[in-house]
Amino acid sequence: MAKGNKQNTKNSSSKNIEPAQPLWAGRLSEKPDAQAFVFQSSINIDKRLVFDDIQGSRAHVTMLGRQGIIPRESAVKIVRELQTISAELKEGKLVIDASYEDVHSFLEAVLTQRLGDTGKMVHAGRSRNDQVALDFRLYLKRSVPLIQLEISKLLGILLDTAQLHVTSIMPGYTHLQRAQCVTLGFHLTAWSAALSRDYSRFDDALKRLDECPLGSGALAGSSLPLDRKAVSDALGFSRISLNAMDSVADRDFALELSSACAITMVHLSRFCEDIILWASEEFKFIELAESWSTGSSIMPQKKNPDFAELIRGKSGRTIGNAVTLFTLLKGLPYAYNKDLQEDKEALFDSIDTLRDCLGMFAGMIKTAKFNLKRMKAACTGGFLEATDTAEYLVRKGLPFRAAHETASSIVRECIEKGHRHISGLNLDELKKHSELFEEDIFKTITPAACIKARDLPGGPCPKEVRRQIRVLRKKNQIIF
Ligand code: ARG
Repeated sequence: MAKGNKQNTKNSSSKNIEPAQPLWAGRLSEKPDAQAFVFQSSINIDKRLVFDDIQGSRAHVTMLGRQGIIPRESAVKIVRELQTISAELKEGKLVIDASYEDVHSFLEAVLTQRLGDTGKMVHAGRSRNDQVALDFRLYLKRSVPLIQLEISKLLGILLDTAQLHVTSIMPGYTHLQRAQCVTLGFHLTAWSAALSRDYSRFDDALKRLDECPLGSGALAGSSLPLDRKAVSDALGFSRISLNAMDSVADRDFALELSSACAITMVHLSRFCEDIILWASEEFKFIELAESWSTGSSIMPQKKNPDFAELIRGKSGRTIGNAVTLFTLLKGLPYAYNKDLQEDKEALFDSIDTLRDCLGMFAGMIKTAKFNLKRMKAACTGGFLEATDTAEYLVRKGLPFRAAHETASSIVRECIEKGHRHISGLNLDELKKHSELFEEDIFKTITPAACIKARDLPGGPCPKEVRRQIRVLRKKNQIIF
């Protein structure tokens, strides 16, 4: 859902303003070819930067007035008009005219048509190159925290659910084969740890992008006495960028954020893969709410986990967007090149996709029901206690490799005799494998005992998982 694309846009010139004239029309004697002009215009994508562009222009013009670069009264007039434009856009009284090249050209045209020569002062000491670098950063500074809010909400749901299930036994898998007993709480805490890292990855990217490029001009600054620091402070940036050429050429922040989006989507995709498996008749570990499932147009019995599948599917486009951005930049000479115009569509799409998917995943998991009986039953069958049996022997002094061999031959005997758990053998039978076995082996290898015994930091023991949940909750609270 490309939310930002829903803004009102007109394809022909609006009532309020005159037909589009490129900002660079003065250089060329011929009018641009109509089709070619449409091809190179970006307004249908960058229109979502309109309020960031207005905010940037207000700070820039205020500074121009203070520095005496333009008359103070002109600065006041422009700032006031920008406020009016902003209000009119919000009310729908002014509509973005898509026949302009980009949102920057559109706004300058509106100003000029309304204020005449005064409007023409707005671009002093500025290029669209530093302007678009600014707008993009401003947009990201307000939209990335919205992604983080969604991550945080989802984390809250996952951790609450994990807390309820610190003793709900289920198999843990490697190679999709039952491996060792764990709990549902432990599994959900594993997901939560990944999401918590995702959150902090966005924090890191935000810190680095938090610098103001305005005053960098096209690539080499300006000879006008701009006060870069004042503009940066007015716009709430932490600092001004260091080097003008870098400021207009840099899209590291887009690479970082598209990667952070793709990584988070890959996490969601993996969680969804678990859910899809768990929802199958074969596993039956989870029952998705009817309102979060779909049916089949032909098979009357079907209840499909479409939402999980779609999230898994959509992770592909976010990976694609990151690859688009890396490819866009890899051969680009310094400084600005029009190729960079392609950056916004890719990143906007990743941000929109991730936000949607985080919300969908939260809704799906919140309403799902876990089949705890099935999960527990899956722990007897598959000899998930074999490693714990080997470790029992290690505690009695046997070298691990020997203990591993002993436990393997026990498993083989169980399979031959049709037992589904090592406790199917009695103590005499076990003693034939090793004299070290005592009566206590039987209470050591129940699923609950196995889980309780794995109490190292990071382990699935309920007390330890409660601690892990506390750690993640604390991080999630700092977030708010
Ligand atoms: N639409 C352009 C972009 O997104 C704005 C900057 C254009 N600058 C230029 N020199 N053509 O990159």
